[in-house]
Amino acid sequence: MASENLNRREFIVGGAASSLFLSAAARAVEKTAKRRVALVGAGIRGTSYWGRHLVENYSDVIDYVGVCDINPGRAGLSRSLIGADCPAFTDFDTMLETAAPDLVIVTTVDSTHDEFIIKGLKQGLDVITEKPMTTDEAKCQAILNAARASSGRLIVGLNYRYGIIFSRLRELLQSEQIGRLTSVDFHWYLNTYHGASYFRRWHGLREKSGTLLLHKAAHHFDLLNWWIDSDPVEVHAYGALEKYGANNAFRGKRCMDCPHTGECQFFWDMRKDDRLMQLYHANESYDGYIRDNCLWRAEIDIFDKMAVQIRYANNVQVSYSLTTYSPYEGYRVAFNGLNGRVETWEGVPSLDAQQVDQAQLHAREMDQGSHAEVERKVHEIVTQRNFEPFQRETIPFVRSGHWGGDKIMSDEIFRGQIARPELGRSAGVRDGAMSVLIGIAARKSIDEQRPVKISELTDLEPRRARRG
Ligand SMILES: NC(=O)c1ccc[n+]([C@@H]2O[C@H](COP(=O)([O-])OP(=O)(O)OC[C@H]3O[C@@H](n4cnc5c(N)ncnc54)[C@H](O)[C@@H]3O)[C@@H](O)[C@H]2O)c1
Repeated sequence: MASENLNRREFIVGGAASSLFLSAAARAVEKTAKRRVALVGAGIRGTSYWGRHLVENYSDVIDYVGVCDINPGRAGLSRSLIGADCPAFTDFDTMLETAAPDLVIVTTVDSTHDEFIIKGLKQGLDVITEKPMTTDEAKCQAILNAARASSGRLIVGLNYRYGIIFSRLRELLQSEQIGRLTSVDFHWYLNTYHGASYFRRWHGLREKSGTLLLHKAAHHFDLLNWWIDSDPVEVHAYGALEKYGANNAFRGKRCMDCPHTGECQFFWDMRKDDRLMQLYHANESYDGYIRDNCLWRAEIDIFDKMAVQIRYANNVQVSYSLTTYSPYEGYRVAFNGLNGRVETWEGVPSLDAQQVDQAQLHAREMDQGSHAEVERKVHEIVTQRNFEPFQRETIPFVRSGHWGGDKIMSDEIFRGQIARPELGRSAGVRDGAMSVLIGIAARKSIDEQRPVKISELTDLEPRRARRG
């Protein structure tokens, strides 16, 4: 029953939040009646969730005053995709000067986030950045320094925390039904559609994405930090590239004009998606950004399988893995306490006793338009205390909009509506840093074949009790 209550409360709309619980962003919202918002990085996430979704749902509290992209074609197009009547820029500094925003949203390629975060903070602006906050330790330290010196706030869009299933797990852990938490098993499976999609474009290059230990796993490491409620201390990892990249007998230039479409199970016809054709294909001439690159190109230098061990300051230990060519998309997570275990999973066909069309599932995952659709399925959470029978709890299955989290997060940021203050879901610079530091430490551990301490990386000292 608690889960149903939780679900209902997640969708409360209206009503002022108590200022006691106002997040950094919500406090910022209080400053002026309407925020002057400018966005840098007019790609799919920028134009959809942080673009059109904001314009359609928050225009009473925000004014879009500028959009910037290094690609002039995408910069121009973004105004109509977002539905904002504002100027488009190709230079960020010019946008800050001309559009005079008070809130900057950063949705560029991961390795460039630091530049815009720091410039915004240096001007005393509030900044929202997409995850991962950044991709290496030097940039992370520079962001920490800028945040300390700025009167502006940095909000990191760690939306998985707001997902209904993940919030429920946090609530269960807070209740200590299984006694003191001692270890976590967390395994994430990307299917041959979603997993492969990261190898088609910039994510496949470590220089741009920092590897999937940053780009993808930053979400998972953040969930772990938040669930465990302590800071990571030491990381030991393994990783390799064995499926994608040069690991194939044939390769083409790109899917669209590939001579191997008949024999390649990963052939992806981007021409069927008008929006992607408009956003990327029509603007290739400006920067050579190919959205449907060959998965087998030799330049790919990220890992496609990763295993990470993490020790926390409160002594909890984690076994995490990320797989990018699974036949199905999903995860399994189990929390082991001194007195029992809580576990859940998603998408495992044999457990759900149903086959799912993985291509369709991926199409829904990519749909950034829908933010909290309840499906007919349920999530099951199983709790079993030692020497007692198991208890099964079901909660409504919401998968779109990142487990329903996107909408809850934007209501919190832009309206100050904090649906579940006791869960502490808003993420600031320290949360952003701790989530990427695990990925950076894991990458270093793989490269240098040794355990890496979090304290080696920046001046942040891990704390036994996490503080966001
Ligand atoms: N939180 C989530 O669930 C979620 C989901 C999707 C994407 N993201 C994040 O959003 C960001 C964007 O992802 P995407 O899928 O939209 O990528 P994308 O490639 O579609 O968009 C990135 C855009 O940034 C632009 N860009 C790159 N470098 C730039 C620079 N120096 N100056 C200005 N513009 C620049 C590119 O031209 C492109 O238009 C990434 O950081 C990604 O991790 C988060």
